[in-house]
Amino acid sequence: MRYVSLTALVACFSLLSTFYLYRAAVDSATSISPQGCALPRMYESYIAQPAFDQSWTSLAKRYSLWLYRELDHRGRQWDTGHVGGLPVLFIPGSAGSWRQVRSIASSAATQFYAAPGLVAHGMERLKPLDFYAVEFNEDLSAFHGPTLEAQTTYAARAIDYILSLYPPHTRIILMGHSMGGIVATALLASHSANISAIFTMSTPHTLPPARFDARVDKIYDLTRELLAQHTETDTPIVSLCGGATDMMIPSESCVLPPGKLRRTVFSCALEGAWTGVGHQEMVWCHQVRWRVARAALELGDVAVTTPEARQVVLDRWLRDGHALPPIEDVPVPEFTNVEVLPTEMSLVLRNPQGERTYFLPVSASRKFVLLVSQGAIPPVAPQQPLPLVASVFACAKDRSNCMQQHPTTLKLLPNPVAGRPFPVPGSGADESEGVVLFEGDVDEDAEWVGVRVERSTGNGWVVGGFVSAEPVVNRIGTLQLLLGKVSLAMPSTETFKTRWTFPNLISNALVVYRITPHRVDYDRPCDALFAPLLQHTSQPSETHYYPLLVPPNRRILLHTHASAPHVVSADAAPFGVEFSVYSSGASGCLAGFDMSIDWSATVGRWATRYFTVIPVWATGILAFILFRAWGVAEGGAAVPALEESISSFLGSPLRWLLVLSVAISIAPLPESYYLGNRGEPYFALIAPLLLLLSTGFVCATQYLLRALMWPLSKLSRAGRRRREDVSVHRSTVISMAFILLIIFLFVPWQVAFLGCWAIHLHNCASAQAHIKHFASIPDTVAIPLLRQDGEPTHQRQSSRAPAPLPAYIVNNHNHSMHILLLMTWLLPLAAPVLVVWVRTLAGAGLTTPFDGNHSVFSVAPFLVLVTYSSWMRAPLSQMQRFERTVFIRWSLVAVSAAALLLGSRKPYLVLDTATVALGLFVLVRVWGGIGAGRRFRQFRVDFLYSANPIVFVYPRSG
Ligand SMILES: *[C@@H]1O[C@H](CO)[C@@H](O)[C@H](O)[C@H]1NC(C)=O
Repeated sequence: MRYVSLTALVACFSLLSTFYLYRAAVDSATSISPQGCALPRMYESYIAQPAFDQSWTSLAKRYSLWLYRELDHRGRQWDTGHVGGLPVLFIPGSAGSWRQVRSIASSAATQFYAAPGLVAHGMERLKPLDFYAVEFNEDLSAFHGPTLEAQTTYAARAIDYILSLYPPHTRIILMGHSMGGIVATALLASHSANISAIFTMSTPHTLPPARFDARVDKIYDLTRELLAQHTETDTPIVSLCGGATDMMIPSESCVLPPGKLRRTVFSCALEGAWTGVGHQEMVWCHQVRWRVARAALELGDVAVTTPEARQVVLDRWLRDGHALPPIEDVPVPEFTNVEVLPTEMSLVLRNPQGERTYFLPVSASRKFVLLVSQGAIPPVAPQQPLPLVASVFACAKDRSNCMQQHPTTLKLLPNPVAGRPFPVPGSGADESEGVVLFEGDVDEDAEWVGVRVERSTGNGWVVGGFVSAEPVVNRIGTLQLLLGKVSLAMPSTETFKTRWTFPNLISNALVVYRITPHRVDYDRPCDALFAPLLQHTSQPSETHYYPLLVPPNRRILLHTHASAPHVVSADAAPFGVEFSVYSSGASGCLAGFDMSIDWSATVGRWATRYFTVIPVWATGILAFILFRAWGVAEGGAAVPALEESISSFLGSPLRWLLVLSVAISIAPLPESYYLGNRGEPYFALIAPLLLLLSTGFVCATQYLLRALMWPLSKLSRAGRRRREDVSVHRSTVISMAFILLIIFLFVPWQVAFLGCWAIHLHNCASAQAHIKHFASIPDTVAIPLLRQDGEPTHQRQSSRAPAPLPAYIVNNHNHSMHILLLMTWLLPLAAPVLVVWVRTLAGAGLTTPFDGNHSVFSVAPFLVLVTYSSWMRAPLSQMQRFERTVFIRWSLVAVSAAALLLGSRKPYLVLDTATVALGLFVLVRVWGGIGAGRRFRQFRVDFLYSANPIVFVYPRSG
């Protein structure tokens, strides 16, 4: 009883924790990096491409190709009907619709045309875009390598077909959403000369999101090699990532491997967007889609011929501010309207008018910062700026001999409204919004900085001055933060920029820090021109902005995607958190802030990164439980019941495993092993937590199986009837050969596996009913029978007292139950391909070959085991003589080890090793056991020949 309650306790712990983790994960999606996107509108129409038929590709019946045309509100096409622009091919992702092309395509049409057929102003040098999209029937390419390959083959032929409609040497632009981006990059192998640029959106480039098919991993390996070969030249690639808002893929896998013409742009850093973007939203989020469309349009400029020139265009329209824009040299003008500021004074211009130059004496730090709201510091400006233009010059002693001051940073910052949510939910940033940030290190020989403000109309503002060059360094460690928060005061409220560095804090996707700002005076509103804004940069491509004056219920959560499980960033260190606070320097706004670890968001991040570990580790745990149960049996004792096995595992074996899991956590393994944290001690407690959760799930499924078997055993009891024994040899062998042939020819083996599981469940249920029934029969049963007239005629003895139940029946049943639970946990590992098969069958029917895995060896062990365990009339598992030196059951330890060490990165290996282990078992034990069983010469086959297979037939005496 004590054991049962412990099992239940662990199961409850798991279920409750999972519920909490799920809540935390859902909450982290919306609170870490909120989304603010405007919803686009369009009038869509699609033109089929029937000419792209069987003569082009054998996949023409399975997939199709469409051309998008935007209509105006009266239903007229903006484009002139026939294709004559620049071709673009949109490739949807796993389960994605080809109609997702519409948002970007519609934006390209409405930007290029002012009216149907009329080219908009400024677009004369460009060509319109012809958007094609491939329809993949929403196939689940993420789960299935052959599907991904079929899509790549089809897309490659589609490129050939599309280019055949255009003049020679036309290049195509590829856009891929999610797994479509993998297809697009894979096309570089065959078509790199024909592709002008690739845009991928929310694409998991470095890590497959679903890792249940080894063939997907292979495709990733090939793509990785391909990208490594093409680092220097060839095709520009832009990867747009949604950040923490994207719950379908971890955004760390969206970062492209380094290369000259490659850029990773996080939407929260994307100038003018500054928002987290969800996985599906990436294709339609207005702030993103118009920039993507514009960048693609500008690639059509006749002057843009080289790959480098194309990269410059992409950088101009998809800026994240981490690189300087190309800056033109401007001649130094005559400064006429001059104002000289005294030392230590900053420049603060509210609503400037006309033209004026302000001179500031250079301070010791030599670090100059200038912020211009809504205007321009050429070439950076908001999309729709005011006429206001500012430029910076460095001048010698008597303000003569001026030179253009070059920036170290020149980019656009968001300008959130103080006290309001940012980004604005449902609409996001406006085109005219933004503050241009200029930072520069003034030369040694310059003594003045001149800021020239031109064309100001009384709107906007300009602030600038010298800031400290050194950051505020805080050496607090992660361990101290684990124990509590740290309070930090702003060193000076009058400065435009304060940099903070925390060199000892860990920077990893699995940790989220929380900033709680403190106002100087909560009663007074902050009247700063530019309210304090925190900028957190964790790797060059990843910058997040957080306004510090937020509604009190809004959490400020610092997070990163630089280092993460199974992912190592090329340009970010695992330690060191750095951020800057910008403000226009009004006193009274921000006094300081607290920094702490946000546990809810942190745990939510663990959940999103590790939920697939649970079924894998549960399988490993079960293999270990099976290993111990067989050990008991080999010692000569009876095979323990499943409950006993599990509860004995919950004792010292689990404790040792927990200790071992911590020990492995701190071993410096490469990132593809274990949980992918390379021995980082701070994450050592994640492994035992996952182990405990997996164990709890094993306990819970034991109850689940009981619940499933209960109605089945009732049924089998009711339907039990005597059946004649049939000779096994021919029929079983024939039926099995038949099933294996079907697998070989038609269904993927996962289907047969599911069938095996169902039959085994049924068998176990019947066996249990049978054993229970047997146990309930008293030695002699006398049933008085009454005739209709009520007079007792005679007493009939129950036919005979049954023979005692042979021990091997209970043993075999216990064996079968262990194997049933193991198979139950292998189901989620085999299920994804099964789902893909069913969907493909439903979508494309039998018109196309489904390249499943028809390996009969993958399912044969289960098939044999399930079949034989149902009629074996001898101990199911008998030790062979040679096992004195090599125990077959040790193969199960290999399964556990594979699950623990490799299961997180390569779950499919666990299914493979489990198949091999059971295959060995079948070969050695069951086949050997058949030899022993022959002595009984009484077999019975219920498999496939009856609707109600009865598992065990015990010998009837007499
Ligand atoms: C692809 O580019 C190569 C090299 O420029 C060219 O020979 C070939 O015709 C192009 N393919 C298509 C389909 O245009």
